[in-house]
Amino acid sequence: MSQNVASSPATGADATEPDSATTVGELERRLEAAQLGGGEARIKRQHDAGKLTARERIDLLLDPGSFVELDALVTHRCQDFGMSAQQIPGDGVVSGYGSVDGRLVYVFAQDFTVFGGSLSETNAQKICKVMDLAVENGAPLIGLNDSGGARIQEGVASLAGYTDIFLRNTLASGVIPQISAIMGPCAGGAVYSPAITDFIFMVEGTSYMFVTGPDVIKTVTHEEVTKEALGGASTHSATSGVAHFTCPNDAGCLLSVRELLSYLPSNNLDDPPLGNSDDDPNRADESLNDLVPADPNKPYDIKKLIRGVVDDGGFLEVQPDYAKNIVVGFARLANQSVGIVANQPNYLAGVLDINASLKGARFVRFCDAFNIPLITFEDVPGFLPGTQQELGGIIKHGAKLLFAFAEATVPKLTVITRKAYGGAYCVMASKHLRTDANFAFPTAEIAVMGPEGAVNVLYRRELAAAQDDDEMATIRAEKVAAYRARFSNPYIAAERGFVDAIIEPQHTRKHLIRALRQLGSKRQSSPPKKHGNIPL
Ligand code: HXC
Repeated sequence: MSQNVASSPATGADATEPDSATTVGELERRLEAAQLGGGEARIKRQHDAGKLTARERIDLLLDPGSFVELDALVTHRCQDFGMSAQQIPGDGVVSGYGSVDGRLVYVFAQDFTVFGGSLSETNAQKICKVMDLAVENGAPLIGLNDSGGARIQEGVASLAGYTDIFLRNTLASGVIPQISAIMGPCAGGAVYSPAITDFIFMVEGTSYMFVTGPDVIKTVTHEEVTKEALGGASTHSATSGVAHFTCPNDAGCLLSVRELLSYLPSNNLDDPPLGNSDDDPNRADESLNDLVPADPNKPYDIKKLIRGVVDDGGFLEVQPDYAKNIVVGFARLANQSVGIVANQPNYLAGVLDINASLKGARFVRFCDAFNIPLITFEDVPGFLPGTQQELGGIIKHGAKLLFAFAEATVPKLTVITRKAYGGAYCVMASKHLRTDANFAFPTAEIAVMGPEGAVNVLYRRELAAAQDDDEMATIRAEKVAAYRARFSNPYIAAERGFVDAIIEPQHTRKHLIRALRQLGSKRQSSPPKKHGNIPL
């Protein structure tokens, strides 16, 4: 089916009205054509699929009436496949700027009703224009993606357009926040720009991301897979880790983007906006004194500690369904945005594995790039042992988290709630990685390894020499008790100054806020270099 034709003097379609181009009516007619995109029938199809149009999405994302559109009259230049007869002003993407909570943002929204939102040469130029403006003016860029990828009719011109966008995404990384909302099928080039951006939102049931879709996969590998299983919101939020947030519908997605922006600065030279909570900075939470169970092998929910400590219990969790053994997200302390990284004893005992390391490292680097202080809550028995992890490269992936914490120069605060064993002690924002304030609960156990593992190594011969199982159990119990008494506490670390203070859990909020205020004008630098070489 061919697309609506917006006739224009340039194409000679309005030859009967020679001076129409000079009238306001002509302007109105062209702008109306731009507003309609692919036309009523395709808009209906979009709505029937449970999706909003590009313009409806922008209206929900931005403060009412704040959108200023750019390039509404741009058309493509393709002459092949009968395309010259199919010109739609705007060419499949709506772009411009506006505000979110009064702060400037740049936005583009792909219009699936125009050639499936596919990327043409001119459509890419429109996107590049707002990207350049966003960087020059230090404001976040939000991409609302709904695109069949490279416009097939345009060949390499479309590929060039994609690559121009990828380059800009890369250069803007760490300069302005870049947020991608996936709100329809996104294939081919349409997934790589979002992949370079900082956060990806997906809408459940209507959005997909894949490099190649099910049909191509079937042809090439004979594998049969549904769109949902291959690249749906749950696949990318729980399994691949590509997506950071999932939302039930378009409106919910756009509201969530606004919420995320409320924690972020406009650019890397700005501070995040302040909240407006009147939660008492000295508020104690007695329930936190009983949070960590007496039995060191019993799990508990670290999110109770996070919510108990931050302003009004507000926590925007990032990647909640991926690598649940580590929890990351944004909150505020005394109205200041903070990034939280916390081991989750409730899931795999909070162990660090490949996925948790990747999730944590990426979040730490984002916060460091955008002046968001890092708060680490630590209860980690170590790195996950086993062939699956070793062969999967836990060495290089775990090193990413280490590298990220070591490199970060934003204010860093750590609270050890219970286990801080081995390499995981070092990695999780320990004092030795330039962390500014390190606290421990009285329940903290800071040691090279847990008591059972330590006794097995240190007393292997005594245990082997036992006359029978009973004697072995007695020796083991004695040694474990002695090790626990000596090492499974925070006091040796405190004696060395590796922990600045041992605090009562109920007063965690007060201690964190005091430390954060003290670090208000922290300046720390690293040796000059082109860039580090994080173990990718
Ligand atoms: C031109 C396209 C298009 C494309 C869709 N359309 N994709 N036109 N170029 N890439 C058009 C369709 O012809 C159709 O036009 C309209 O958009 C809606 O598409 P439908 O197929 O009817 O919609 P739907 O059934 O929802 O399927 C959506 C889809 C599918 C899954 C995205 O259209 C599809 O598979 N498209 C191709 C995906 C793809 O392989 N893209 C190229 C990737 S390669 P009418 O007129 O009928 O309404 C790539 C290279 C860059 O991107 C790599 C950089 C690293």
